[in-house]
Amino acid sequence: MINIAVLGYGTVGSGVVEVIDTNSTEISSRLGEDIRVKYILDLRDFPGDPHEAQVVHDIEIIFADPDISVICETMGGMEPAYTFTKKALEKGISVCTSNKELVAAHGPGLIKLAESNGCSYLFEASVGGGIPIIRPLNKALTAEHIQSITGILNGTTNYILTHMDEDGVGFEDILKEAQRLGYAERNPEADVEGHDAARKIAILSSLMCGSNVRYEDIYMEGITGITPEDFKYAHALGMSIKPLALSRETDDGFFAMVAPFMIESSHPLYMVKDVYNAVFVSGNTLGDTMYYGRGAGKLPTASAVVSDVVDCARHPGKTVACVWNEQDVRLTGIDEYKCRFFVRVSADKKNDADAVFGEVKAVDAGISGEYAFITGVMSNADFDAACGKVGGVISRIRTF
Ligand code: NDP
Ligand code: HSE
Repeated sequence: MINIAVLGYGTVGSGVVEVIDTNSTEISSRLGEDIRVKYILDLRDFPGDPHEAQVVHDIEIIFADPDISVICETMGGMEPAYTFTKKALEKGISVCTSNKELVAAHGPGLIKLAESNGCSYLFEASVGGGIPIIRPLNKALTAEHIQSITGILNGTTNYILTHMDEDGVGFEDILKEAQRLGYAERNPEADVEGHDAARKIAILSSLMCGSNVRYEDIYMEGITGITPEDFKYAHALGMSIKPLALSRETDDGFFAMVAPFMIESSHPLYMVKDVYNAVFVSGNTLGDTMYYGRGAGKLPTASAVVSDVVDCARHPGKTVACVWNEQDVRLTGIDEYKCRFFVRVSADKKNDADAVFGEVKAVDAGISGEYAFITGVMSNADFDAACGKVGGVISRIRTF
């Protein structure tokens, strides 16, 4: 019997308990023993809940019980999650988490702490919700030199942009729906301003490099500037707008960014809609592989947490390998990143825009008072300089 404790009985934590209840037969037959949720730590009581008897409010009850070999940290936030995680690992208790904020901030230190105490710090649920992506990077793609990762890594923003695109729903209304469905962060600014996706691409990039990509160093733009008019132009172009996160090896280092991009309907990420996420991983001998699934939500995320619990239970007294050392990776800035830009300027700037940007592709979406076009491939620095010369820029979106 593997006895576990769940810290935080919210969306993901209650999902962990439900997945274990629902799939106990499958889990036990694959593991060769049962998993039992012995404690649930939360601030609240849950009267009438089938697991109310397991609810405790003092972490020391869990740490004092020698039966507990794995903890699922599904509270979120930095503290007390960080303190509880460190204490668990110091005691040789493995920790499985969905908390990407903590993983992005302290991943390498916590992995090292787990290694020195014969246990594991696993975080499959921290990126892409239910999509298996951490385990493939750590276990399946070990023969590859990974050159780039591109993905839709935030369910809330993909859900918002999908419904703005297809149903013309307003930003605020659709964000409320994403919150109701349990997709959004406690503070949804983390989703819509790009911090959540930046943390996730930092985690994936760190696994790609084996060294630490700091999320604070990643260039990010949120989706709050995207308007219904932008979607009208995207439709006119047969394109859509998607929240992308990408990381690349470059000639002089490494680059990562998060921003909304216009993408062609022929691109596989065009079909990734609603709360779904997808990740492209490109290796030098393998080429592209793509991972797809629900990027947020109770049960998909919980399934990933429980898969980590099974991994820990299969390696008692050992550490499940993860190469992510504490040395920081130097990132190149946004200035050199090259792409085509979709641009809207006021109609009176047409001649200036044509003169400065040279050959562009004009876009007509029937919106008066504006001139819209797609530039040739240019660096962000050159683009910014050109915009400064033209003036009157209403909006711009990178294309992919
Ligand atoms: P919730 O807010 O739904 O759940 C968190 C739970 O932890 C709440 O019940 C909360 O209680 C409890 N809690 C908070 N602080 C403490 C504490 N000090 N001691 C005990 N319990 C505490 O969050 P989610 O389940 O949505 O998210 C949890 C983590 O998983 C976050 O890091 C999130 O980013 C991540 N995640 C979430 C996904 C999702 O789809 N929701 C998907 C992937 C990852 P109270 O409500 O009373 O404060
Ligand atoms: N808020 C996050 C999202 C949860 O929408 O993707 C999953 O990490």
